Parts: sequence; C-alpha cells; structure tokens
Amino acid sequence: MTVTVRVPAKVNVQLAVAAARPDGFHDLANVFLAVGLYDEVTVTPADALRVTCQGPDAALVPLDTTNLAARAAIALAGRYGRSPDVHVHIAKDIPVAGGMAGGSADGAGALLACDILWGTGASRAELLDICAELGSDVPFSLVGGAALGTGRGEKLTPLDVGGTFHWVFAMAGRGLSTPAVFREFDRLTAHTDVPEPVASAALLDALAQGDPDALAAAVSNDLQPAALSLFPELADTLAAGRAAGALAALVSGSGPTTAFLAPDPESAEKIAQALRTSGTCRTVRTASGPAPGATEVTRH
Ligand code: C5P
Repeated sequence: MTVTVRVPAKVNVQLAVAAARPDGFHDLANVFLAVGLYDEVTVTPADALRVTCQGPDAALVPLDTTNLAARAAIALAGRYGRSPDVHVHIAKDIPVAGGMAGGSADGAGALLACDILWGTGASRAELLDICAELGSDVPFSLVGGAALGTGRGEKLTPLDVGGTFHWVFAMAGRGLSTPAVFREFDRLTAHTDVPEPVASAALLDALAQGDPDALAAAVSNDLQPAALSLFPELADTLAAGRAAGALAALVSGSGPTTAFLAPDPESAEKIAQALRTSGTCRTVRTASGPAPGATEVTRH
C-alpha cells in the first residue's frame, strides 16, 4: 500500500515571545493560521527507512534522520515496536527554512501517513503527543485551521475563523535558522523587561469576524526585529508589499519569508505582481487561509 498525505504551511498572525526559559526555549503566545501552500508526503513499504524529496527547494532538504519526516516514522515505529522501514517521499512546495513550518509539515504528514500505512490506530491525542516531541510547530501542522499555541507553541487551542484571509508570501534568496533568530531575539532583549506573552483579544476577534482590516491592525511578530537584524534586506521586501497595497506586512514566524495580507484575491494578485518585479525577493506565491491540517489524499 502507498499512502499520501497533504499538509499545509502556516503563517503566524501573532507571535508573542517571552524571555528564554532555563531549557533555552521561549514561552509563546503563537497564533497560527494554516494557509493553502502544501507539501505532500507519500509513504511506501521499503527494505529500510529512506527519504527522498522533489521540488524547487529539494536540494536544501536533509534526507537523513535529521529530517522531521524520518524522525516521525522512527518515533511512531518505536511506540508500536516495529521497524520504520518505509520510503518517505516529500513533494515539497513549502519554502525550506522559510518560517512557514515546512519541516514541521513533513513531520506531521509522515506521522499520519505511517499511522495509516501501518494501521497502528494511534489516537489523535497520541499523534499530537508525538508531534510535540518532534518540534514546537508540528502539532499545529497536524491540526491546521487556526489555533493559539502556548508553552513553546505545542499546546494548542483551536480558534474560530469567520472568513477567508488572502495572503501573499515573498520567499527570500536564502534561509534563516530558527535557533539563530531566537538567539538574536535573546541578544536584542537582553537588557529589557520582556513581558509575558498574551494572545491579543483584538486579533482573536478579527479572526473570528473574518475581518482583514481588523486583523491587519492587530498582527504582530516579536521575532521580526531579530529576523531583520540578521537579514536587513527583508525591510525592502516589506516596504515593497506595503507600497503595493498590502493591509499588513510582516515576517512569517522566524522568517525570512515575508507575509502580506490583502483585502481580496484580486488585490493579492496585484501585490504579488508588484513584489515579483520589485527585485526584493526570490519567488512570490499567493495562498489563503485557514486551510485544513494534515489530510489523507490517496491510498492505493
Ligand atoms: O521546537 P523546534 O525544534 O521547532 O525548535 C527549533 C529551535 O527554535 C529550538 O531549538 C529553539 O532554539 C528555538 N525555539 C525556542 N522557543 C520556542 C520554539 C523554538 O527557543 N518556543
């Protein structure tokens, strides 16, 4: 049998970050919105665990056991006392090292696909537990939609969304390492009083109402100064999107992908076109959210 699962990218419409905890992680108030850019993860029985990847950024994807998809197969197999002998193939459309949870998507996708392939019958709670072990953003990739992540982002509360939000994403010419961005956040905030991270009531309301203007007024990303400090050219991309009519322009998660909220699909297309000709980014995509979480697409 072969199983294919489709998993969405995410944008953080709010990312409030506390000072580092003793374990080095940061408590967050992380409002995730899944958007319609997808990786597809296909698993097939094989003699040994093997990962392959196809797509424009495939050369940047590690194919060893540092790949979250491989780690997901190993973790699930370990729990059920079997060997993780599968070929995991990733059809990659989510930017790599982009701040859109592409690696996390592959982890969640491989986990669900292996669960179906092996018929383990793991409960949703158990799958979420394994996701949280794999990484802070992996549980959200499984669940999709919109959710508030607390703790290091892995404890999820689903959120109501009252409409569709239209986004433009500008992919940068190079990646940014998430740990490096958090370290830069630590450096920039070293002598300041970092407040406790709290979800914005205005932002949750804007999501519930499906109101793009209200959402634009409420978006925030505490990692943005750190991402801009490591990658100053991103300011030009943000400015180009704002000049083209974006309601809001922000760095997605730890970056360097930049996200632009548009009032409607036509404006999103215009902003995308302006960004494409701005010379400030590598590629540009439009996508709307919320999008569903990891979903089986084929089994044969
Ligand atoms: O959990 P994940 O493996 O995705 O995290 C990658 C890195 O990002 C961590 O090693 C840590 O440096 C940083 N991080 C953090 N606080 C979080 C989430 C991630 O400091 N809440």
